[in-house]
Amino acid sequence: MTSSHADLVRRNKEFTLASWTAQDSWNPLSMARAEGVYFWDADGKRYIDWSSQLVNVNVGHGHPHVIKAIQDQVAQVAYAYPGIATEPRARLGEMLREIAPSGLVKSFFTNGGADAVENAMKMARLYTGRQKVMTRYRSYHGATFGAMTAGGDPRRLANEPGVPWVVHVHGPYAYRSPAYRGRTEAEGDQAVVDQIEETIQFEGPENVAAILLEGYNGTSGVMQGGETFWRGIQSICDRYGILLIIDEVMSGFGRTGEWFGVNHYPYVKPDLMAMAKGLTSGYVPMGGVMVTEPIATHFADHPLWGGLTYSAHTLACAAGIANIEVYKNENLIENARSMGKVMRKGLMDLAENHPSIGEVRGTGLLQVIELVTNRETREPMSAWNQPATEPMKKLAGKLRELGMNTFVRFNWIFCAPPLVVTEEQMQEGLGIIDQALDITDQSYQGS
Ligand SMILES: Cc1ncc(COP(=O)(O)O)c(C=O)c1O
Repeated sequence: MTSSHADLVRRNKEFTLASWTAQDSWNPLSMARAEGVYFWDADGKRYIDWSSQLVNVNVGHGHPHVIKAIQDQVAQVAYAYPGIATEPRARLGEMLREIAPSGLVKSFFTNGGADAVENAMKMARLYTGRQKVMTRYRSYHGATFGAMTAGGDPRRLANEPGVPWVVHVHGPYAYRSPAYRGRTEAEGDQAVVDQIEETIQFEGPENVAAILLEGYNGTSGVMQGGETFWRGIQSICDRYGILLIIDEVMSGFGRTGEWFGVNHYPYVKPDLMAMAKGLTSGYVPMGGVMVTEPIATHFADHPLWGGLTYSAHTLACAAGIANIEVYKNENLIENARSMGKVMRKGLMDLAENHPSIGEVRGTGLLQVIELVTNRETREPMSAWNQPATEPMKKLAGKLRELGMNTFVRFNWIFCAPPLVVTEEQMQEGLGIIDQALDITDQSYQGS
Protein backbone atom coordinates (compact mmCIF):
# COMPACT_ATOMS: atom_id res chain seq x y z
CA MET A 1 0.00 0.00 0.00
CA THR A 2 1.40 3.42 -0.88
CA SER A 3 0.20 6.50 0.96
CA SER A 4 0.39 10.08 -0.18
CA HIS A 5 2.46 12.59 1.78
CA ALA A 6 -0.68 14.19 3.18
CA ASP A 7 -2.08 10.83 4.27
CA LEU A 8 1.18 9.82 5.96
CA VAL A 9 1.36 13.09 7.85
CA ARG A 10 -2.28 12.81 8.93
CA ARG A 11 -1.85 9.23 10.26
CA ASN A 12 1.48 9.97 11.93
CA LYS A 13 -0.14 12.89 13.72
CA GLU A 14 -3.23 10.90 14.64
CA PHE A 15 -1.44 7.91 16.18
CA THR A 16 1.96 9.16 17.37
CA LEU A 17 3.57 11.96 19.35
CA ALA A 18 6.45 14.06 18.01
CA SER A 19 9.59 15.26 19.84
CA TRP A 20 10.40 18.79 21.02
CA THR A 21 7.21 20.41 19.73
CA ALA A 22 3.64 21.24 20.59
CA GLN A 23 1.87 18.64 18.50
CA ASP A 24 -0.24 21.10 16.51
CA SER A 25 2.91 22.83 15.27
CA TRP A 26 4.37 19.60 13.93
CA ASN A 27 4.45 19.83 10.17
CA PRO A 28 6.78 17.03 9.10
CA LEU A 29 8.28 16.03 5.80
CA SER A 30 7.67 12.41 4.89
CA MET A 31 10.23 9.91 3.63
CA ALA A 32 9.43 7.00 1.36
CA ARG A 33 12.85 6.30 -0.16
CA ALA A 34 16.41 7.45 0.45
CA GLU A 35 19.77 7.14 -1.21
CA GLY A 36 23.11 8.88 -0.61
CA VAL A 37 22.51 12.55 0.19
CA TYR A 38 18.90 12.51 -1.06
CA PHE A 39 15.52 11.31 0.10
CA TRP A 40 12.11 11.36 -1.53
CA ASP A 41 8.81 12.09 0.17
CA ALA A 42 5.69 9.98 -0.30
CA ASP A 43 4.64 12.12 -3.29
CA GLY A 44 8.03 11.63 -4.95
CA LYS A 45 9.47 15.08 -4.19
CA ARG A 46 13.26 14.93 -3.76
CA TYR A 47 15.13 16.60 -0.89
CA ILE A 48 18.86 17.07 -0.45
CA ASP A 49 19.59 16.04 3.13
CA TRP A 50 21.72 18.99 4.26
CA SER A 51 21.66 17.89 7.92
CA SER A 52 22.14 14.11 7.46
CA GLN A 53 18.78 13.79 9.31
CA LEU A 54 19.93 14.61 12.86
CA VAL A 55 23.59 14.89 11.88
CA ASN A 56 23.90 11.14 12.13
CA VAL A 57 23.53 9.53 8.68
CA ASN A 58 27.23 10.04 8.01
CA VAL A 59 27.66 7.30 5.38
CA GLY A 60 24.57 8.55 3.56
CA HIS A 61 21.24 6.84 3.04
CA GLY A 62 20.86 3.27 1.80
CA HIS A 63 24.52 2.29 1.84
CA PRO A 64 24.65 -1.26 0.40
CA HIS A 65 27.63 -2.40 2.52
CA VAL A 66 25.91 -1.47 5.79
CA ILE A 67 22.58 -2.95 4.67
CA LYS A 68 24.24 -6.25 3.74
CA ALA A 69 26.13 -6.45 7.07
CA ILE A 70 22.87 -6.01 9.01
CA GLN A 71 21.05 -8.55 6.83
CA ASP A 72 23.83 -11.12 7.31
CA GLN A 73 23.90 -10.56 11.05
CA VAL A 74 20.14 -10.81 11.56
CA ALA A 75 20.17 -14.18 9.82
CA GLN A 76 22.99 -15.43 12.07
CA VAL A 77 22.34 -14.05 15.57
CA ALA A 78 19.71 -11.32 15.82
CA TYR A 79 20.12 -10.73 19.54
CA ALA A 80 22.18 -11.92 22.46
CA TYR A 81 21.78 -10.50 25.96
CA PRO A 82 24.64 -8.26 27.10
CA GLY A 83 26.12 -10.93 29.39
CA ILE A 84 26.99 -13.05 26.35
CA ALA A 85 30.19 -12.75 24.29
CA THR A 86 29.68 -12.28 20.54
CA GLU A 87 31.94 -11.83 17.53
CA PRO A 88 30.55 -8.46 16.35
CA ARG A 89 30.81 -6.97 19.84
CA ALA A 90 34.47 -7.98 20.18
CA ARG A 91 35.30 -6.84 16.66
CA LEU A 92 33.61 -3.45 17.03
CA GLY A 93 35.41 -2.85 20.36
CA GLU A 94 38.71 -3.73 18.70
CA MET A 95 38.08 -1.42 15.73
CA LEU A 96 37.08 1.45 17.99
CA ARG A 97 40.31 1.11 19.96
CA GLU A 98 42.22 1.51 16.69
CA ILE A 99 40.50 4.75 15.63
CA ALA A 100 39.78 6.44 19.00
CA PRO A 101 41.93 9.22 20.45
CA SER A 102 44.97 7.63 22.05
CA GLY A 103 44.52 6.18 25.51
CA LEU A 104 40.88 5.11 25.08
CA VAL A 105 40.95 1.34 25.18
CA LYS A 106 37.57 -0.20 26.06
CA SER A 107 33.98 0.43 25.02
CA PHE A 108 30.71 0.08 26.91
CA PHE A 109 27.81 0.01 24.45
CA THR A 110 24.48 1.79 24.87
CA ASN A 111 21.38 2.44 22.74
CA GLY A 112 22.11 6.03 21.72
CA GLY A 113 23.83 9.28 22.67
CA ALA A 114 21.94 10.34 25.78
CA ASP A 115 22.49 7.05 27.60
CA ALA A 116 26.14 7.11 26.49
CA VAL A 117 26.46 10.45 28.28
CA GLU A 118 24.54 9.13 31.32
CA ASN A 119 26.90 6.17 31.59
CA ALA A 120 30.00 8.32 31.07
CA MET A 121 28.92 10.62 33.92
CA LYS A 122 28.06 7.63 36.11
CA MET A 123 31.42 5.97 35.48
CA ALA A 124 33.29 9.21 36.19
CA ARG A 125 31.45 9.60 39.49
CA LEU A 126 31.98 5.96 40.48
CA TYR A 127 35.67 6.09 39.54
CA THR A 128 36.53 9.35 41.29
CA GLY A 129 34.12 9.06 44.21
CA ARG A 130 33.33 12.73 43.50
CA GLN A 131 29.84 14.07 42.77
CA LYS A 132 29.79 17.03 40.43
CA VAL A 133 29.98 17.26 36.66
CA MET A 134 30.67 20.62 34.99
CA THR A 135 29.22 21.35 31.57
CA ARG A 136 28.77 24.34 29.24
CA TYR A 137 25.54 26.30 29.11
CA ARG A 138 25.76 26.26 25.33
CA SER A 139 25.77 22.51 24.87
CA TYR A 140 23.44 19.59 24.25
CA HIS A 141 24.00 16.11 25.65
CA GLY A 142 20.68 14.26 25.20
CA ALA A 143 17.16 14.09 26.60
CA THR A 144 17.27 11.47 29.36
CA PHE A 145 17.06 12.96 32.83
CA GLY A 146 20.74 13.44 33.75
CA ALA A 147 21.88 14.14 30.20
CA MET A 148 19.12 16.73 29.82
CA THR A 149 20.40 18.58 32.89
CA ALA A 150 23.96 18.25 31.58
CA GLY A 151 23.01 20.00 28.35
CA GLY A 152 22.96 23.69 29.06
CA ASP A 153 20.87 25.14 26.28
CA PRO A 154 17.17 25.93 26.76
CA ARG A 155 16.07 22.40 25.95
CA ARG A 156 17.00 21.54 29.55
CA LEU A 157 14.68 24.08 31.14
CA ALA A 158 11.54 21.91 31.06
CA ASN A 159 13.42 19.43 33.26
CA GLU A 160 14.45 21.86 35.98
CA PRO A 161 15.90 21.58 38.54
CA GLY A 162 17.12 18.29 37.05
CA VAL A 163 19.87 16.32 38.78
CA PRO A 164 21.54 18.32 41.57
CA TRP A 165 25.14 17.52 40.72
CA VAL A 166 25.52 19.30 37.36
CA VAL A 167 27.20 22.73 37.42
CA HIS A 168 26.95 24.88 34.28
CA VAL A 169 29.69 27.22 33.14
CA HIS A 170 30.10 29.71 30.30
CA GLY A 171 31.99 28.54 27.24
CA PRO A 172 33.55 29.95 24.10
CA TYR A 173 31.41 32.10 21.76
CA ALA A 174 33.71 34.69 20.30
CA TYR A 175 31.01 36.33 18.16
CA ARG A 176 28.76 37.36 21.06
CA SER A 177 30.01 36.42 24.52
CA PRO A 178 31.00 39.35 26.79
CA ALA A 179 34.18 37.43 27.71
CA TYR A 180 35.50 38.26 24.21
CA ARG A 181 34.53 41.94 24.08
CA GLY A 182 37.58 44.04 23.25
CA ARG A 183 39.75 40.94 23.31
CA THR A 184 41.36 38.69 20.73
CA GLU A 185 39.87 35.22 20.39
CA ALA A 186 42.77 33.69 22.32
CA GLU A 187 42.38 36.26 25.12
CA GLY A 188 38.64 35.55 25.25
CA ASP A 189 39.28 31.82 25.42
CA GLN A 190 41.64 32.46 28.33
CA ALA A 191 39.02 34.57 30.10
CA VAL A 192 36.54 31.69 29.74
CA VAL A 193 39.07 29.19 31.10
CA ASP A 194 39.78 31.50 34.05
CA GLN A 195 36.04 31.73 34.82
CA ILE A 196 35.77 27.94 34.72
CA GLU A 197 38.70 27.56 37.09
CA GLU A 198 37.21 30.11 39.46
CA THR A 199 33.89 28.22 39.41
CA ILE A 200 35.77 25.03 40.28
CA GLN A 201 37.28 26.82 43.29
CA PHE A 202 33.79 27.85 44.43
CA GLU A 203 32.41 24.32 43.93
CA GLY A 204 35.42 22.68 45.64
CA PRO A 205 37.76 20.84 43.26
CA GLU A 206 37.56 17.79 45.53
CA ASN A 207 33.85 17.54 44.60
CA VAL A 208 34.26 17.77 40.84
CA ALA A 209 34.36 14.39 39.12
CA ALA A 210 34.47 15.58 35.52
CA ILE A 211 34.25 18.35 32.99
CA LEU A 212 31.96 17.31 30.12
CA LEU A 213 32.39 19.02 26.73
CA GLU A 214 31.37 18.27 23.17
CA GLY A 215 34.47 17.45 21.12
CA TYR A 216 33.10 19.92 18.61
CA ASN A 217 30.08 21.94 19.64
CA GLY A 218 26.91 21.02 17.68
CA THR A 219 23.25 21.98 17.85
CA SER A 220 23.78 24.70 20.45
CA GLY A 221 25.29 26.76 17.64
CA VAL A 222 28.71 25.32 16.70
CA MET A 223 30.54 27.57 19.17
CA GLN A 224 33.99 26.17 19.49
CA GLY A 225 36.98 27.32 21.51
CA GLY A 226 40.47 27.35 20.06
CA GLU A 227 43.83 26.08 21.26
CA THR A 228 43.96 28.38 24.31
CA PHE A 229 40.59 27.07 25.51
CA TRP A 230 41.43 23.42 25.04
CA ARG A 231 44.93 23.65 26.52
CA GLY A 232 43.44 25.53 29.46
CA ILE A 233 40.77 22.87 30.08
CA GLN A 234 43.33 20.07 29.90
CA SER A 235 45.57 21.85 32.35
CA ILE A 236 42.68 22.44 34.81
CA CYS A 237 41.80 18.73 34.63
CA ASP A 238 45.43 17.75 35.24
CA ARG A 239 45.85 20.21 38.11
CA TYR A 240 42.76 19.16 40.06
CA GLY A 241 42.52 15.47 39.15
CA ILE A 242 39.25 16.12 37.28
CA LEU A 243 38.30 13.72 34.50
CA LEU A 244 37.59 15.01 31.01
CA ILE A 245 34.52 13.51 29.34
CA ILE A 246 34.37 14.32 25.64
CA ASP A 247 30.96 13.99 23.98
CA GLU A 248 31.59 12.95 20.38
CA VAL A 249 27.99 11.91 19.74
CA MET A 250 27.60 14.50 16.97
CA SER A 251 31.20 15.39 16.14
CA GLY A 252 32.51 11.82 15.96
CA PHE A 253 33.04 9.54 12.99
CA GLY A 254 34.44 12.00 10.50
CA ARG A 255 31.88 14.75 10.85
CA THR A 256 34.49 17.52 11.29
CA GLY A 257 37.08 16.04 8.92
CA GLU A 258 38.82 14.06 11.69
CA TRP A 259 37.74 10.76 13.17
CA PHE A 260 36.68 12.68 16.29
CA GLY A 261 36.22 16.42 16.89
CA VAL A 262 38.73 16.37 19.72
CA ASN A 263 41.41 15.15 17.29
CA HIS A 264 41.71 18.80 16.21
CA TYR A 265 43.40 19.32 19.60
CA PRO A 266 45.99 16.52 19.88
CA TYR A 267 47.19 17.74 23.30
CA VAL A 268 43.74 17.00 24.79
CA LYS A 269 43.52 13.59 26.47
CA PRO A 270 39.93 12.47 27.08
CA ASP A 271 39.41 10.09 30.01
CA LEU A 272 35.98 9.05 28.74
CA MET A 273 34.37 9.58 25.35
CA ALA A 274 30.65 9.31 24.53
CA MET A 275 29.70 8.36 20.99
CA ALA A 276 26.58 7.45 18.94
CA LYS A 277 25.07 8.83 15.68
CA GLY A 278 27.85 8.20 13.08
CA LEU A 279 28.86 5.02 14.93
CA THR A 280 26.08 3.29 13.00
CA SER A 281 24.85 6.23 10.88
CA GLY A 282 21.43 5.52 12.36
CA TYR A 283 20.95 2.21 10.51
CA VAL A 284 20.49 0.58 13.93
CA PRO A 285 20.39 2.68 17.13
CA MET A 286 23.63 2.52 19.13
CA GLY A 287 25.86 4.58 21.39
CA GLY A 288 28.80 3.86 23.62
CA VAL A 289 31.37 5.11 26.10
CA MET A 290 35.09 4.56 25.70
CA VAL A 291 37.39 4.71 28.71
CA THR A 292 41.12 4.77 29.46
CA GLU A 293 43.09 1.88 30.93
CA PRO A 294 43.01 3.23 34.54
CA ILE A 295 39.22 3.54 34.42
CA ALA A 296 38.84 0.12 32.81
CA THR A 297 41.14 -1.31 35.51
CA HIS A 298 39.06 0.30 38.25
CA PHE A 299 36.05 -1.59 36.97
CA ALA A 300 38.07 -4.81 36.92
CA ASP A 301 37.37 -5.24 40.62
CA HIS A 302 34.50 -2.80 41.16
CA PRO A 303 31.10 -3.55 39.65
CA LEU A 304 30.02 -1.40 36.75
CA TRP A 305 26.61 -0.44 38.11
CA GLY A 306 24.69 -0.13 34.89
CA GLY A 307 23.29 -2.12 32.03
CA LEU A 308 20.76 -2.08 29.23
CA THR A 309 18.85 -4.95 27.66
CA TYR A 310 20.09 -3.90 24.25
CA SER A 311 23.68 -3.05 25.18
CA ALA A 312 26.04 -4.36 22.46
CA HIS A 313 23.08 -5.41 20.29
CA THR A 314 24.44 -7.69 17.58
CA LEU A 315 22.71 -5.84 14.72
CA ALA A 316 24.03 -2.52 15.99
CA CYS A 317 27.54 -3.96 16.35
CA ALA A 318 27.36 -5.30 12.78
CA ALA A 319 26.19 -1.87 11.58
CA GLY A 320 29.04 -0.22 13.52
CA ILE A 321 31.68 -2.48 12.00
CA ALA A 322 30.30 -1.91 8.50
CA ASN A 323 30.22 1.86 9.02
CA ILE A 324 33.87 1.98 10.09
CA GLU A 325 34.74 -0.12 7.04
CA VAL A 326 32.90 2.36 4.81
CA TYR A 327 34.61 5.36 6.42
CA LYS A 328 37.97 3.73 5.75
CA ASN A 329 37.38 2.16 2.34
CA GLU A 330 35.72 5.24 0.86
CA ASN A 331 38.07 7.76 2.51
CA LEU A 332 35.12 9.55 4.00
CA ILE A 333 37.08 11.32 6.71
CA GLU A 334 39.26 12.91 4.02
CA ASN A 335 36.18 13.69 1.94
CA ALA A 336 34.56 15.46 4.90
CA ARG A 337 37.72 17.54 5.28
CA SER A 338 37.97 18.51 1.61
CA MET A 339 34.22 19.02 1.10
CA GLY A 340 34.25 21.07 4.31
CA LYS A 341 36.71 23.43 2.64
CA VAL A 342 34.50 23.65 -0.45
CA MET A 343 31.54 24.36 1.80
CA ARG A 344 33.39 27.05 3.74
CA LYS A 345 34.48 28.78 0.54
CA GLY A 346 30.92 28.60 -0.80
CA LEU A 347 29.48 30.00 2.44
CA MET A 348 32.03 32.83 2.50
CA ASP A 349 31.11 33.65 -1.11
CA LEU A 350 27.46 33.75 -0.06
CA ALA A 351 28.42 36.13 2.77
CA GLU A 352 29.79 38.57 0.16
CA ASN A 353 26.39 38.78 -1.52
CA HIS A 354 24.04 38.34 1.42
CA PRO A 355 24.35 41.00 4.11
CA SER A 356 22.13 38.96 6.47
CA ILE A 357 24.98 36.47 7.01
CA GLY A 358 26.63 37.64 10.23
CA GLU A 359 29.05 34.80 10.75
CA VAL A 360 29.95 31.36 9.39
CA ARG A 361 31.40 28.90 11.90
CA GLY A 362 32.54 25.30 12.11
CA THR A 363 34.75 22.93 10.21
CA GLY A 364 34.47 19.88 7.98
CA LEU A 365 30.82 19.02 7.47
CA LEU A 366 29.64 20.63 10.70
CA GLN A 367 29.13 24.29 9.88
CA VAL A 368 26.52 26.90 10.71
CA ILE A 369 25.41 30.23 9.27
CA GLU A 370 24.38 32.84 11.85
CA LEU A 371 21.95 35.44 10.45
CA VAL A 372 21.67 39.05 11.60
CA THR A 373 19.64 42.13 10.74
CA ASN A 374 22.70 44.35 11.14
CA ARG A 375 26.34 43.32 10.83
CA GLU A 376 27.63 46.19 12.98
CA THR A 377 25.30 45.63 15.95
CA ARG A 378 25.03 41.87 15.27
CA GLU A 379 21.30 42.01 16.02
CA PRO A 380 20.12 38.42 15.49
CA MET A 381 17.55 37.71 12.72
CA SER A 382 15.63 35.77 15.41
CA ALA A 383 16.44 36.04 19.08
CA TRP A 384 17.97 33.11 20.94
CA ASN A 385 15.36 31.01 22.75
CA GLN A 386 12.42 33.05 21.39
CA PRO A 387 9.78 31.97 18.87
CA ALA A 388 11.08 32.24 15.30
CA THR A 389 10.57 35.61 13.59
CA GLU A 390 8.68 35.81 10.29
CA PRO A 391 11.84 36.08 8.14
CA MET A 392 13.33 32.96 9.74
CA LYS A 393 10.04 31.07 9.33
CA LYS A 394 9.85 32.10 5.68
CA LEU A 395 13.48 31.16 5.11
CA ALA A 396 12.90 27.68 6.58
CA GLY A 397 9.79 27.29 4.40
CA LYS A 398 11.71 28.39 1.31
CA LEU A 399 14.49 25.85 1.92
CA ARG A 400 11.85 23.12 2.04
CA GLU A 401 10.08 24.39 -1.01
CA LEU A 402 13.37 24.36 -2.92
CA GLY A 403 13.99 20.74 -1.87
CA MET A 404 16.37 21.02 1.07
CA ASN A 405 16.00 19.30 4.44
CA THR A 406 18.00 20.98 7.15
CA PHE A 407 17.97 22.15 10.68
CA VAL A 408 17.01 25.83 11.16
CA ARG A 409 17.12 26.96 14.80
CA PHE A 410 16.86 30.53 16.18
CA ASN A 411 19.00 32.53 13.67
CA TRP A 412 21.13 29.59 12.51
CA ILE A 413 21.11 27.39 9.41
CA PHE A 414 23.01 24.14 9.97
CA CYS A 415 25.09 22.75 7.14
CA ALA A 416 25.94 19.09 7.77
CA PRO A 417 25.33 16.82 4.76
CA PRO A 418 26.40 13.16 4.71
CA LEU A 419 30.14 12.55 4.37
CA VAL A 420 29.62 11.03 0.91
CA VAL A 421 28.61 14.43 -0.50
CA THR A 422 30.23 15.34 -3.84
CA GLU A 423 31.35 18.74 -5.04
CA GLU A 424 28.39 18.93 -7.41
CA GLN A 425 25.93 18.14 -4.62
CA MET A 426 27.69 20.70 -2.43
CA GLN A 427 27.11 23.37 -5.09
CA GLU A 428 23.49 22.28 -5.42
CA GLY A 429 22.94 22.78 -1.67
CA LEU A 430 24.76 26.11 -1.62
CA GLY A 431 22.62 27.25 -4.57
CA ILE A 432 19.42 26.53 -2.64
CA ILE A 433 20.68 28.46 0.40
CA ASP A 434 21.71 31.32 -1.92
CA GLN A 435 18.12 31.64 -3.18
CA ALA A 436 16.55 31.36 0.27
CA LEU A 437 18.79 34.05 1.79
CA ASP A 438 17.13 36.68 -0.39
CA ILE A 439 14.30 36.45 2.13
CA THR A 440 16.39 37.36 5.18
CA ASP A 441 18.29 39.99 3.17
CA GLN A 442 14.96 41.82 2.79
CA SER A 443 14.83 42.22 6.58
CA TYR A 444 18.41 43.45 6.79
CA GLN A 445 18.55 46.91 8.38
CA GLY A 446 22.26 47.69 8.38
CA SER A 447 24.04 49.92 5.93
C1 LIG B 1 26.50 16.20 21.39
C2 LIG B 1 25.31 15.31 21.60
N1 LIG B 1 25.27 14.51 22.69
C3 LIG B 1 24.23 13.69 22.93
C4 LIG B 1 23.15 13.65 22.06
C5 LIG B 1 21.98 12.74 22.35
O1 LIG B 1 21.99 11.67 21.49
P1 LIG B 1 20.65 10.79 21.29
O2 LIG B 1 19.65 11.69 20.67
O3 LIG B 1 21.10 9.65 20.43
O4 LIG B 1 20.23 10.33 22.64
C6 LIG B 1 23.14 14.47 20.93
C7 LIG B 1 22.00 14.46 20.00
O5 LIG B 1 21.84 15.31 19.15
C8 LIG B 1 24.25 15.32 20.70
O6 LIG B 1 24.29 16.15 19.63
